[in-house]
Amino acid sequence: MASFHIRKIGVLGAGLMGSGIACHLAGAGFQVLLLDRAAAGPDKNILVKESLRSCLSSKPSPLYRKDFAERIKTGNFDDDFHKLAQCDWIIEAIIEELPPKIELFEKIEAVRRPDAIISSNTSGLPISMLTKGRSADFKSHFIATHFFNPPRYLQLLEIIPCVETKPEVIDFMLDFGSRYLGKQTVLCKDRPGFVANRIILPYMLKVIELCETLGLPIYVADKLMGPAMGRPKSGTFRLADLVGLDTAAKVLQGLKIHCLDDEMLQNIPPSKAFEFLLRHQFYGGKSGKGFYEKTDELDASGKRKIRALNLQTCSYELEVPVKLESLQLSKQIDDLQKRMNTLISLEDEGALLIKRSTAFLFSYVAHRIPEICDTVYGIDQAMCSGFGWELGPFQLWDVLGFQQGIELIHDSGFTVPEWIQQMSDQENLQFYRNESERMEYWNPLSGNYVSIPGSDKELNFKIRCKENNLFQNDEIQILDIGDEVLCVNFISKNNIIGEGILRGIQYAIDLAETQGWKGVVIGNTSEHFTVGANLLYIGMMAFQQEYSQLDEAAKLFQETSMRCRYSAIPVVCACQGYTFGGGVELLLHCDAAVAYAESYIGLVEMGVGILPCGGGTKEFAKRLSQEMKEGEVHMPQLIHRFKTIATAAVSTSAHEAFDLGYLDDRRDAVCIQKLTNVRKAKEKVLHLSENYVQPIETGVQVLGQSGLATLYVAANSMQRAGYASEYDVHIARKIAHVLCGGELSAPQKVSEQYLLDLEREAFLSLCSEPKTLERIQHMLEHRKVLRN
Ligand code: NAI
Repeated sequence: MASFHIRKIGVLGAGLMGSGIACHLAGAGFQVLLLDRAAAGPDKNILVKESLRSCLSSKPSPLYRKDFAERIKTGNFDDDFHKLAQCDWIIEAIIEELPPKIELFEKIEAVRRPDAIISSNTSGLPISMLTKGRSADFKSHFIATHFFNPPRYLQLLEIIPCVETKPEVIDFMLDFGSRYLGKQTVLCKDRPGFVANRIILPYMLKVIELCETLGLPIYVADKLMGPAMGRPKSGTFRLADLVGLDTAAKVLQGLKIHCLDDEMLQNIPPSKAFEFLLRHQFYGGKSGKGFYEKTDELDASGKRKIRALNLQTCSYELEVPVKLESLQLSKQIDDLQKRMNTLISLEDEGALLIKRSTAFLFSYVAHRIPEICDTVYGIDQAMCSGFGWELGPFQLWDVLGFQQGIELIHDSGFTVPEWIQQMSDQENLQFYRNESERMEYWNPLSGNYVSIPGSDKELNFKIRCKENNLFQNDEIQILDIGDEVLCVNFISKNNIIGEGILRGIQYAIDLAETQGWKGVVIGNTSEHFTVGANLLYIGMMAFQQEYSQLDEAAKLFQETSMRCRYSAIPVVCACQGYTFGGGVELLLHCDAAVAYAESYIGLVEMGVGILPCGGGTKEFAKRLSQEMKEGEVHMPQLIHRFKTIATAAVSTSAHEAFDLGYLDDRRDAVCIQKLTNVRKAKEKVLHLSENYVQPIETGVQVLGQSGLATLYVAANSMQRAGYASEYDVHIARKIAHVLCGGELSAPQKVSEQYLLDLEREAFLSLCSEPKTLERIQHMLEHRKVLRN
């Protein structure tokens, strides 16, 4: 591979995409030069500055951490264009029109360094036309990098080379995008809509047509095409409203004009309802209504009622309960594989929608290989990372069974391409198969199974769970993940931490210590690491006033945390997504953590009326004690740590978790590439195990009454400022009590056990308070915090 080194990146066009891309690149650690057209007034940079400012203030934040914005320098095309000579990669993200883009590339050619890569973020213009008039060298370094909006959060990055792009540039961008930008890169062909849009739009149109003919209300269809099929709640119609119907129509029109030989697309009849919406400019969320419309009427829970478009009458109607076996069953079967197989065995309208739309999807994607992409995994990855699907089309086909998929296609009047027929003739009846360290896919071009590039970077949990499972209970598996390292994998619902997980962690550490394993990783491959301890259990015990049971539960948690901290082998945590409550307490006690950049970390106990009592509050006191140096003023750190727990602060990224004190830059690391954190945690275990010295307890310096006085003032000021209720202050005082080591008359050193006992005492006393019980009940019923 040619050695391209990317340090500095130029982004041209500071609109919605340009600013978002600049922020993501800055978040990933790169220096960015963001340029836009020069404004006419005295400040020529006003356009770029305003665009960037508006992007920075958008929610959710385009940056992992606010101060990363300092990595972005702004300028204008007139005065600062020459600075692009210092850039290793130049991304064009200006208006979607060919002439200005061509003109810009001409200017870029005049200043670019000879080895700089140039890319376009175009969503639809033919890549080959963009480089018209450019030199051979320019073309060989040119590629399209199609980010999705918003660039930080949407995982998909489509990479589209032109005929002249050097293979090294293509390979480099595919690898760089995934390794350094954390994206799912997918290699696409220079065809209209590339991969994701080319598939989703005809598929949406087909679903609309089916709903019209089956007479299914759109809110029912969204449930079936969404959660029932392992996809986001937005389903089809809400997704269309989110994208914007005008945008969707524009892209669709482009596809229809440029893909004349795409029979399946051309054969979908126009939708009366879709045309009605376009005619009235009801474009979805951005114009107030689309397939759905929010009314001013409030429902029982105070939310605005929503009406849905009736596809037959083109009028808006309130949702009414619909009885369908398919809908009913879809909610009852947890396992996606079982659910899908059950749903397609049914015959009601819901099942027909699923069967016929899936038949269309299977046939459509199979016919698009090799037109838009050469591989099945490329298509699956694009659909999963672009739209949040659990299973891509070919993965779903494998779940339903190869032959059944073909039958489904034929039953709905569609066809399969030659390569599927050949697979069937040769009895290769799966698109994917698991091969120990990697996944393999069926390659229609070579006619055999080939490994998926990069699949060896993630640990293959599926294989590990089958073949290397050393121990399992209802909540946990202990897996051998190779190189003499164990992994504790959570398998409880939402990875909730109960007794099974705690005992499992202790058992894994015992095993490692006594049988010569090098260490333990606590990590899993779920979307979210864990939502925390078992609140249902805590609630039940608290309601039944079973305080001794609660005390035992807290003790078990504390023992497990302490076991992670003081074992004879290294224990490293790998977290991602929601990392709440008890999950944070475990993380704090490990030797190190590797957090995926999109980790939302927080000690959130206060929201349910309790405090961290699995060692979390104690650990904050201990970290404070380590931060204190003789003669230094410690109050600001004390107040900061206190407020973090007392406001249940959750980081908006792993990077922000360092500021909140959940992560520590002396031991913890962030990784931007999804699903690689477990492997990195394993590498950390191996590194630490080389000269691992079992830690010993050294005591914790606490401030006693002098600290307490300060924290009580801080708690009261939170209430006065209006962001804490009286009961919040009550809980905050309990937290303060633990952090300061109680009412000690002078600062002194105490044991960790002393603080753990204070934690449990505070926890039990809060569990006996009616307002805590109300908070727990409210969270269990509504999944929301009650600030009573
Ligand atoms: P935008 O309208 O927010 O920004 C366009 C930018 O182009 C502005 O900074 C504007 O100052 C600049 N510009 C306008 N006319 C120009 C001209 N004649 N010469 C040079 N610069 C000019 O557009 P957005 O949404 O940021 O799109 C930028 C590119 O990204 C387009 O190619 C679009 O197709 C593509 N894209 C857009 C996505 C989206 O969701 N908005 C998603 C993926 C790609």
